[in-house]
Amino acid sequence: MNIVGIQGSTWGKRPFFSIMNALGLHSAVLWNADVSAERYSRIHDSGATLFQDGKHIRSIDEARLSRIKYDGSWPHRSIDYVLGDLTREDIDLVVYAPSAVHICNQETSNGEVGKYIKREFPNAKLWFVSHHLCHAASAALTAPFNSGSYLTLDGMGSSTWDFAAGVTKGFENNSIGYFDKEKGLLTNFMLKSGPGENSFGDYYMNMAVQTYDMAKASKIENDMFHYANKEDYEDVVMFSAEGKIMGLSAYGKETDKNPPYTHSNEFALDVFGIDKYDYGTSWINFHKYSDVFDYIRELGKDDAAYYVQKHYEDAIVKWITQLREDQYLTENVCFAGGCFLNVCANSLIKPLFDKTWIPPFPNDSGIHFGAAAYGSFKSKERIEMPANIALLGKSYDDYVPEDAEYYEDFDILCEVIAKAIDDNKIVGWFQGRSEHGPRALGSRSILMSPKRGENKDIINQRIKHREYWRPFAGVTLEDRGYDSPYMLYAQDVLTDDIPAITHEDNTCRMQTVNDELNPRLCALLRKMDPPVLLNTSFNDNGEPIVETPEDAIIGFKKMDIDLLVIGNYLLCN
Ligand SMILES: [Fe+2]
Repeated sequence: MNIVGIQGSTWGKRPFFSIMNALGLHSAVLWNADVSAERYSRIHDSGATLFQDGKHIRSIDEARLSRIKYDGSWPHRSIDYVLGDLTREDIDLVVYAPSAVHICNQETSNGEVGKYIKREFPNAKLWFVSHHLCHAASAALTAPFNSGSYLTLDGMGSSTWDFAAGVTKGFENNSIGYFDKEKGLLTNFMLKSGPGENSFGDYYMNMAVQTYDMAKASKIENDMFHYANKEDYEDVVMFSAEGKIMGLSAYGKETDKNPPYTHSNEFALDVFGIDKYDYGTSWINFHKYSDVFDYIRELGKDDAAYYVQKHYEDAIVKWITQLREDQYLTENVCFAGGCFLNVCANSLIKPLFDKTWIPPFPNDSGIHFGAAAYGSFKSKERIEMPANIALLGKSYDDYVPEDAEYYEDFDILCEVIAKAIDDNKIVGWFQGRSEHGPRALGSRSILMSPKRGENKDIINQRIKHREYWRPFAGVTLEDRGYDSPYMLYAQDVLTDDIPAITHEDNTCRMQTVNDELNPRLCALLRKMDPPVLLNTSFNDNGEPIVETPEDAIIGFKKMDIDLLVIGNYLLCN
């Protein structure tokens, strides 16, 4: 949509067509990890997204630029990055999404956010939009269907306020809603929230941290090396333990020590007792956390992880099935929120509906994206996304690395790389626009052959320095029997020739690509036999994925990667 305006203060001056610039932001305004003693303080995944006239321009998380994993600082680097040649005066609308952390509550209630953003963006209107509405917009407005319902689940969304009393009443932790993009509709209903109630994300995070505490006991000194202090390390564990424990769960089994799914305490009747609440929706009450901590301490780490994952899967499938039966969720449904990074649970949820959609950034990377998309959508813009919805950052096509060999013909470069991978070399792969969201999907990836089982340990020990139990994902062409363009599902492995990416339970987090989504990765895969690669993110443990070619070259040298491909250039270590 173009807005017709009149330049200057005198009516009758030259009319012009201005572009509607909508900026989505997620952060606390006064938090700056560069100068704070603590880097995290529970604020995480700040960043910025720009839409122009409904067309997506760029998105980035601050962490990619500051190089502080999960950075939650005011995203000044991200704002510069997404604005490009625009100035802060060019922004017409800022859509701001707070987090439910202490500093955000303070800043929002004392008016600091409004004052700060008005100073930064003097010509912009300012909208405050809830965290869950942003998650919802990130899913609904990128979904490949026009209308349907959505479910948002995460650890915690925005605070809810008693404005008269000036205090927080609670937090979003699950929401449902409905959308119709043709009609401009996107409605949000916050469901019941409270200690233990429907708190899927909070429950899983707490159980995962406890389980990881058992698993890492002998490893903490080593891991701590990356962090300035113990508090920073613990914050990073809190943000990352869920994925680690999901991987570990495949090594565990059900034991007779597992606690029953029923119990009684001050909150709960029965962990699987479905009751009706708020809008008449069903809800699930989880075990009292301290009871579960007592249970899982008696299990070994593997069985504890199995219990946490299985319990979570059973609960989420039962609850979502009930929501569907009660017609709160429709046949076309979107999911967003950090809970939908759980690829094992996602695979169980998908068959419950005709059509499902999870954006490539279901975590809080989707918040500033959703904020900007919502602002554009509600300004009656038609949302326009690139073909590959995951590639929302910059490309660096003009970059010319030093001491590199240039290949005019990219196909020949792919032949060289395919041969090297077959010789068991490790390859850094830097191509095109950077990915938005937590997964490397072939733009900022480390690639290796999946054909040798020991490659998992080689990459873990030599490159990624991660726990032995964490599986590596794969990527293949879309006609190979898998279906997951954004690496959001765990799927059964169909052949026995890719042991390095076959997890303990015979599944793989396989990404599928085609020429429209990622032509350069397809070109390489077509040179491989079988056309499958181990694909892991281009970063060391504890660091964000690389963003720029310079980041990639630093990582290439530090991580002892054999070869690095940047565009049509090849570098050798
Ligand atoms: Fe969230």
